[in-house]
Amino acid sequence: MKKILVTGSSGMVGSKFVEIFKDRYRLLTPGINKLDLTEKDAVSKYIINNKPDVIVHFAAYTDVSEAEKQRGDRFSLCWQVNVEGTRNLANVIDPEQTHFIHISTDMVFSGRKDDTGPYEEAHEPENDPEKLTWYGYTKKCAENAVKAVLGDKCSILRLIYPVRTGYKKKLDPQVLGRLKMYDEGKLYPLFHDQYISITDVDEACEAILRMIEGNVFGTFHASSRDISTPYELGSYIIEKARGKKNVVERSSFDEYVRSVGSKVRWPKYGGLKVRQTEKTLGMKFSTWKQIIDKITGQSTV
Ligand SMILES: NC(=O)c1ccc[n+]([C@@H]2O[C@H](COP(=O)([O-])OP(=O)(O)OC[C@H]3O[C@@H](n4cnc5c(N)ncnc54)[C@H](OP(=O)(O)O)[C@@H]3O)[C@@H](O)[C@H]2O)c1
Repeated sequence: MKKILVTGSSGMVGSKFVEIFKDRYRLLTPGINKLDLTEKDAVSKYIINNKPDVIVHFAAYTDVSEAEKQRGDRFSLCWQVNVEGTRNLANVIDPEQTHFIHISTDMVFSGRKDDTGPYEEAHEPENDPEKLTWYGYTKKCAENAVKAVLGDKCSILRLIYPVRTGYKKKLDPQVLGRLKMYDEGKLYPLFHDQYISITDVDEACEAILRMIEGNVFGTFHASSRDISTPYELGSYIIEKARGKKNVVERSSFDEYVRSVGSKVRWPKYGGLKVRQTEKTLGMKFSTWKQIIDKITGQSTV
């Protein structure tokens, strides 16, 4: 049985990975109190003592708004966890012995008019921190750190708006988060001119399984096969889950950006493509409607 270190195993995505594969693999799931990735010596000691065959590195500082307040500060938590924490792990493993699977994000791409998505796996991430959220920039630097240390003998899997049921600590913002807003009477008008895709967390886990079992290295995407807008996604989930049509109002991303007058670095023309991932891993991702249909078929929604 392969021994797999799962960082971020209490998080939204990592906990689903643990739930699905707990009987298939020997999973090591230390919490932050047992393994704080920012503590270089502790990370080194843990890896040397435990010698995992695979590391699936979900752990990250994921609060995008809080991260923005830390922009430029390499001593603050977002940089320390996402970049230095990742580097601490990559530095101590031997890629011949340990398959490092780094979980990343669509936010390494700018989604700007001069570099529009949806992005293929081989598309170069944005280098200019001013064109990315600070969170996105730290995740981009983490990807670079992994590749600098491990070369081609590692894997990167980018996700975009991962969706799953049964996780109480937080909801994804575009599907179940919208439904909650609707249920609480707090839904505001949604952008009809911002382009995104969503990830079925089960499908992301399936992709990781195939990377582990096939010992496949490279850069991959887990995403719906097609793109949508927050307006379309919000309207569809409310219609499917609550039977209500035409209750969502439209708003414009461009108008919002003009009205706030400050730099908004959220991708406008975003989304991830999965064609190469499907080909390499031999799997097929769902469309965004299929993902929502599946989610709404589950009794807790
Ligand atoms: N959610 C999204 O919208 C999204 C989109 C694209 C990509 N991703 C990527 O997918 C991955 C998983 O995201 P998620 O939403 O599941 O994250 P999450 O729910 O915020 O969980 C983050 C995990 O990281 C752990 N962690 C934070 N700091 C740590 C440290 N210093 N040492 C060890 N562990 C630490 C947390 O532990 P505690 O719970 O103990 O703090 C938690 O288990 C991340 O790499 C993220 O960048 C997420």
